[in-house]
Amino acid sequence: MKSIVLIGFMGAGKTTVGQQLAARLRIPLIDTDELIKKETNLSIPKIFELYGESHFRKLESEMLKSVLKQNHVVSTGGGIVELKQNRDFLKQHPYTFFLKTQLTTIFNRLDGDQNRPLWNQPYIKRLELFNKRQVYYEEASNVTIETDQLTVEEIVHNILTHL
Ligand code: S3P
Repeated sequence: MKSIVLIGFMGAGKTTVGQQLAARLRIPLIDTDELIKKETNLSIPKIFELYGESHFRKLESEMLKSVLKQNHVVSTGGGIVELKQNRDFLKQHPYTFFLKTQLTTIFNRLDGDQNRPLWNQPYIKRLELFNKRQVYYEEASNVTIETDQLTVEEIVHNILTHL
């Protein structure tokens, strides 16, 4: 089976859901952010600070391409859909799931978070980013799961019914 890819905004629960899904399927979980950190030996804020967002996007795209063919659960960074080539690539992949989460839930979860450079900016910028990305996630995914009213177990169950 091909990889199962989870996309969605920061704080949507991609990693938490990915962990449970991978355990359930007994396949590895790959987190593109973790791979980038390991490969560069730098934190994500540091990569943004030293090399800029566009460099990070390049690394992210390379990671995505290399992990998609394998039999993994892939938890992506929220901005993986920024590049059109990634959106097209993800759309062609049969198991791309959009974990759709309301902004109020995201705000509650990411309150005080300092590790996400694109969250660490004024409210209006976060809002613009969130709105723009909703369209991108729909464009890149094959299945949308509205997560706000669901437990992690229910989200995992929902994903499994699509495999
Ligand atoms: C980003 C999301 C982060 C991380 C980086 C950029 C984004 O991942 O890749 O800070 O552009 O939305 P999470 O979605 O896991 O927070």
